[in-house]
Amino acid sequence: MSVLRTKSIEQSLADADEPEYQLKRSLSALDLIVFGVGVVIGAGIFTLTGRAAHEIAGPAIVLSFVVAAFCCALAAMCYAEFASTVPVSGSAYTFSYASMGELVAWIVGWDLLLEMFLGASVVAQGWSAYLGSFLEHLGWVLPESIAYGGVVDLPAVLLVVALGVLISVGIKESMRVNLVLVAIKLFIVLFVIVAGIQFVSAANYDPFVPPSQPTESASGLTQPLLQALLGIEPAAFGVSGIFAGAALVFFAYIGFDVVATTAEETRNPRRDLPIGIIGSLIICTVLYCAVALVVTGMVSYDELDPAAALANAFEVHGQGWMATVISAGAVAGLTTVVLTLMIGASRVMFAMSRDHLLPPVIAKVHPRYRTPWVITAIVTAVCAVVAGFTPVGVLEEMVNIGTLSAFVLVSVGVIVLRRTRPDLPRAFRVPWVPWLPAASALVCLYLMVNLPVETWLRFVVWLAIGFAIYFGYSRKRSRVGLEEALRLDDRV
Ligand code: ALA
Repeated sequence: MSVLRTKSIEQSLADADEPEYQLKRSLSALDLIVFGVGVVIGAGIFTLTGRAAHEIAGPAIVLSFVVAAFCCALAAMCYAEFASTVPVSGSAYTFSYASMGELVAWIVGWDLLLEMFLGASVVAQGWSAYLGSFLEHLGWVLPESIAYGGVVDLPAVLLVVALGVLISVGIKESMRVNLVLVAIKLFIVLFVIVAGIQFVSAANYDPFVPPSQPTESASGLTQPLLQALLGIEPAAFGVSGIFAGAALVFFAYIGFDVVATTAEETRNPRRDLPIGIIGSLIICTVLYCAVALVVTGMVSYDELDPAAALANAFEVHGQGWMATVISAGAVAGLTTVVLTLMIGASRVMFAMSRDHLLPPVIAKVHPRYRTPWVITAIVTAVCAVVAGFTPVGVLEEMVNIGTLSAFVLVSVGVIVLRRTRPDLPRAFRVPWVPWLPAASALVCLYLMVNLPVETWLRFVVWLAIGFAIYFGYSRKRSRVGLEEALRLDDRV
């Protein structure tokens, strides 16, 4: 049994039509853009921007956002081509199964689970932190042991459980809640930009790219892998700070790829998925660059609060009420990120178990709600435990490395599928193949080597667990493998 066996596109499409695994097709292009913006704008812009500007890049953080957006734009085109060719749940996992074979597909699926499970838990904790700060503005303080950073992060657990129930009831219902929350979130981001402009002072942009300086905080395991490999003196800021900053704020863009996981719930996936993926990326890039410019213009980067820069920048200017509004908006805004990442995680698991790489019993669809409710319950339980009881709040870089590695493989997959299946109808085609997808893979790899050594070590452990499960369980039970074996038997 070869680990290189592929699942044909026709088979993937046929599986999606099996009644017991069929999801409800109800989403439009606009739903997808809202979905995309809902999952993308979150903890990244509300908290990471400040930290990255303060510790790594200074006002040049806006350039980091541009670099990260460039990387995402290349990858987004590759995703759009795949999603318009293979409009099946499971996103990059399904694409890789069609192009590069089962083992690569497994690795991609495993990376996506890292991205979405860990991402949902990290952002749930960020949500809880903002809730605490909002309640504090109102004069209510939660007991320390059950608040963010306590023995159990109760608000994070309650959020995850409430969202898990919502997702089980139905995707359309989830999207409705999403729409309201996304509107609030966009309002808050625009509010930061419009209200903040008046406090911007040109002096704060000087120096725009602070000179590179040796740093204690980024040495040993915490320094970027590239610095460690090249034996460069650990340093922050300067031009290399822009790239290290990009590798960190990449987190803020994560999620546009999750749009592709809803392929089986989209009415016209071949047309609408590319619109949803690329549209939400463009909107977010514009907003992010504007916010980054405004915030670093309001407060000098060395005085920015790394924990809650957006709200704090307004407090510095004596606008406490604006800070309260921003905290409230962050609570609403981060909710949709957790919601969407949980939906994404459940759809990837759904696709993997339908292929029997994970136990197929968990992929059953609820007879009335037509949602994969068993998987949703598993996703909810895991995220609730991780967000409630472990200090995952600072593991954004782990989420980034999982996502970036999936991007690399998807980019390569576009080139492979053009060679192996040139005949397939592609509603969206990446220009300049193979150059553009190859550049996409290289840029993603470059951001990956700009992540800290410790992130790489954790990632290697994650992959090792993935390989153990694949070779211990999935490989023998794979549906594609079993069907292949049956065909061989027939021939004998
Ligand atoms: N992009 C998402 C965020 O910033 C994960 O929270």
